[in-house]
Amino acid sequence: MVSFKLSSAFLWTTLYVTSKVTAVELDIDSFESLENATSLIAYGLMDYYTGDQYGKTVGMFSDPYYWWEAGGAWGCILDYWYYMDNDTYNDQFMAAMLHQTGDNNDYIPLNQSTTEGNDDQAFWGIAAMTAAERNFTNPPEDKPQWLYLAQAVFNTMALRWDAATCGGGLRWQIFVWNSGYDYKNSVSNGALFHMAARLARYTGNSSYTDWAEKVFEWMSDVNVITDNDYMFVYDGVSIDDNCTTVTKYQWTYNQGLILAGCAYLYNFTGQDIWHHRTLKLLNSSSVFFNNSILYEAACQPAGTCNNDQRSFKAYFSRFLGATAQLVPETRSTIMHWINSSAIAAAQSCSGGTDGHTCGTNWFADGWDGMYGLGEQMAALEIMVNTRALHKHGPYTANDGGSSQGNGAAGTEAHATNLSPLHITAGSRAAAGIITAVIGISIVACALWLVF
Ligand SMILES: *[C@@H]1O[C@H](CO)[C@@H](O)[C@H](O)[C@H]1NC(C)=O
Ligand SMILES: *[C@@H]1O[C@H](CO)[C@@H](O)[C@H](O)[C@H]1NC(C)=O
Ligand SMILES: *[C@@H]1O[C@H](CO)[C@@H](O)[C@H](O)[C@H]1NC(C)=O
Ligand SMILES: *[C@@H]1O[C@H](CO)[C@@H](O)[C@H](O)[C@H]1NC(C)=O
Ligand SMILES: *[C@@H]1O[C@H](CO)[C@@H](O)[C@H](O)[C@H]1NC(C)=O
Ligand SMILES: *[C@@H]1O[C@H](CO)[C@@H](O)[C@H](O)[C@H]1NC(C)=O
Ligand SMILES: *[C@@H]1O[C@H](CO)[C@@H](O)[C@H](O)[C@H]1NC(C)=O
Ligand SMILES: *[C@@H]1O[C@H](CO)[C@@H](O)[C@H](O)[C@H]1NC(C)=O
Ligand SMILES: *[C@@H]1O[C@H](CO)[C@@H](O)[C@H](O)[C@H]1NC(C)=O
Ligand SMILES: *[C@@H]1O[C@H](CO)[C@@H](O)[C@H](O)[C@H]1NC(C)=O
Repeated sequence: MVSFKLSSAFLWTTLYVTSKVTAVELDIDSFESLENATSLIAYGLMDYYTGDQYGKTVGMFSDPYYWWEAGGAWGCILDYWYYMDNDTYNDQFMAAMLHQTGDNNDYIPLNQSTTEGNDDQAFWGIAAMTAAERNFTNPPEDKPQWLYLAQAVFNTMALRWDAATCGGGLRWQIFVWNSGYDYKNSVSNGALFHMAARLARYTGNSSYTDWAEKVFEWMSDVNVITDNDYMFVYDGVSIDDNCTTVTKYQWTYNQGLILAGCAYLYNFTGQDIWHHRTLKLLNSSSVFFNNSILYEAACQPAGTCNNDQRSFKAYFSRFLGATAQLVPETRSTIMHWINSSAIAAAQSCSGGTDGHTCGTNWFADGWDGMYGLGEQMAALEIMVNTRALHKHGPYTANDGGSSQGNGAAGTEAHATNLSPLHITAGSRAAAGIITAVIGISIVACALWLVF
């Protein structure tokens, strides 16, 4: 994601329009209780959706939530539909996912194209991939299909593989002018690995397996994936010193991207190596649990999680559920963690003027005073994933999936082909001007807020 240092001028405007209801109560063994609880939380999540309002953009959530998190949030809405059999938001999901594809149908819409990073693109791609695997209603024939969109995201990302520095890897940013262009981070590379694994299993095409192996090996070579007592996933490496200094933050979503990727690969290939890695990554994931309750260890205890980071537990919960579906040996550990965390999350959803706003810290007694899109997403995902083993696992093209794709998606005739190598000095200068203009308008906005 793009590192604008905007202080989060959070607005309560669209929130709390409902009358006060009691805290979310959850009896995990009752489907009706889970329905009642998750419908309140999903409603609270969609309170942040502004795309249906006059003059607002379809697919986007309110400020200060970045475009990438919108892609993450639509993935949560998709999970809500699938696990809870509630299609209330399906039309909005379809409209959002199709409005934001961009001209090349690869989730680089023009409005985002100056600031978008590989990880940002990936979270929309993952939502499209999930729609294919869940056999969600296919888009109209004149629109790009779920599988096509996922392949286009994968292909355009894979084209940016940068063998010129550090022996490979994806840079965080797509464009040279964004800060982070010199950083090769685990969420970008992990997402490429993860998408490759899922496309391999869905399509049966072994090119994707080769890619997955290549990305995993590179991440291991530069030690952002460890393989000693634990298999941890660290934040990333800078190209400045040939990727030798590892930034050792551990985020739940990175562990989850790699964990679930390995689970898909094991389920598809049956190879011991992916089985072994899945179990080791899972075991090592215990660093993110406190008495079996999930937390964002790198920032939550210090109270420093930013808006992006407060949504990470949502993706990790989603990937735990997928792993449990795909690798039976993980099920008892995962379901124990999910169930304990879901109960804890539900009791945290007792804040705000609506009485069921979710907090960040699930082992606090009640609501911790935090709120936001990320909090709603994380609570919703952990709760719906208690149903992971009650629903069919991800479908494939041969078994239940009906989405159509194309191995060349994203690289076809009209491809924008956003490989950084194709950026000329001229476009760099133009981008500098754009950045300056954006900078000025941010300052102007900030001043406006101050006065
Ligand atoms: C977790 O909760 C689900 C849903 O109620 C239930 O089916 C499952 O048996 C529980 N598993 C564990 C390990 O508690
Ligand atoms: C679910 O909500 C309905 C309607 O408010 C209520 O009648 C019912 O008792 C609730 N069920 C559970 C299990 O909480
Ligand atoms: C479906 O979701 C909507 C929105 O969250 C909610 O109002 C409705 O009660 C839910 N339906 C059921 C059966 O839970
Ligand atoms: C781009 O931004 C404009 C102006 O806000 C908006 O009207 C349009 O719908 C946006 N396009 C996309 C794909 O988000
Ligand atoms: C840079 O790092 C890569 C990946 O670890 C390695 O293959 C390559 O030999 C290194 N190059 C130099 C000059 O050290
Ligand atoms: C992880 O492995 C260690 C050593 O084998 C074991 O003691 C621990 O219980 C495992 N943890 C989980 C969550 O499986
Ligand atoms: C773990 O949870 C307990 C409360 O159950 C809390 O007191 C403790 O501070 C938590 N540990 C961390 C590392 O957050
Ligand atoms: C693969 O995943 C499916 C669920 O989608 C599961 O039923 C099956 O047992 C898994 N296969 C293996 C080899 O674990
Ligand atoms: C997937 O969707 C297609 C098209 O709607 C449908 O024909 C097919 O039965 C669905 N498959 C499953 C497993 O539901
Ligand atoms: C397999 O995937 C690769 C990489 O995306 C693609 O180039 C190739 O056309 C695909 N093969 C088939 C048979 O779809």
